[in-house]
Amino acid sequence: MKKDRNPLLRVDIITIFPEYFTPALKIGPIKKAIEKGLFDVRFLNLREIADSPKEVDDYPYGGGAGMVLKPEPLKRALEMAGHENGFVINFSPQGKQLNQRLAHELIEKKHLILICGRYKGVDERIVEKYVDLELSIGDYVLSGGDVAALVLLDVLVRLIPGALGDMDSAATDSFESGILDAPYYTRPAVFEGMHVPGVLTSGNHELIAKWRRKMALRRTLKRRPELLRKLYLTKEDLDFLEEIEDGD
Ligand code: ADE
Repeated sequence: MKKDRNPLLRVDIITIFPEYFTPALKIGPIKKAIEKGLFDVRFLNLREIADSPKEVDDYPYGGGAGMVLKPEPLKRALEMAGHENGFVINFSPQGKQLNQRLAHELIEKKHLILICGRYKGVDERIVEKYVDLELSIGDYVLSGGDVAALVLLDVLVRLIPGALGDMDSAATDSFESGILDAPYYTRPAVFEGMHVPGVLTSGNHELIAKWRRKMALRRTLKRRPELLRKLYLTKEDLDFLEEIEDGD
């Protein structure tokens, strides 16, 4: 398919493992967004950009386990990606934590340059001089930023208008409305003696929407109550929450 010259999102990924991403680009919404020309992803392989394998990483000054990605090939990769006109992200467990709201802000940047560190990360002078945002995907330690970059790509592609077949499914995703999502069921109507909630087979769309909202609020109250504090709740939501707290 012919590619649009002006994708809605352009991402340059600086990595030593571009092959890590290859299978993910051939599946689902990421593949569709690339085919539709909405999303353009390129790789800058640090091993190819470095003058020699020795130039890619080195031991940390001051000692300690692990290796640090050296600044020179990273600088070259950033220049090749056109960093002056892009928004540069370095993945790190020390970074700001990714959430749906931040994802909406990042998609507006249009051109992201992702640095995927490995081992102990990247030389701090690169962060100081070139990085706009250090990003973490959670409070745990990955072997490198590549996994985090893949997570970010998946989250962002879901937000590109037209990238999903059914945009409704993105709009009702957990967190899009600030709360968790309702449970879902499909055929058969009875599985191992367990019945699908009757309202879902009633054909009454208004009742179904109300039931989903109530279930979403119930899950959020039980699993992530702190999310409710940040939310604007309607009178109906407050009535639902009261019913839930009364044990309904
Ligand atoms: N690199 C290592 N751990 C990470 C994390 N939790 N998030 C982002 N990048 C990382």
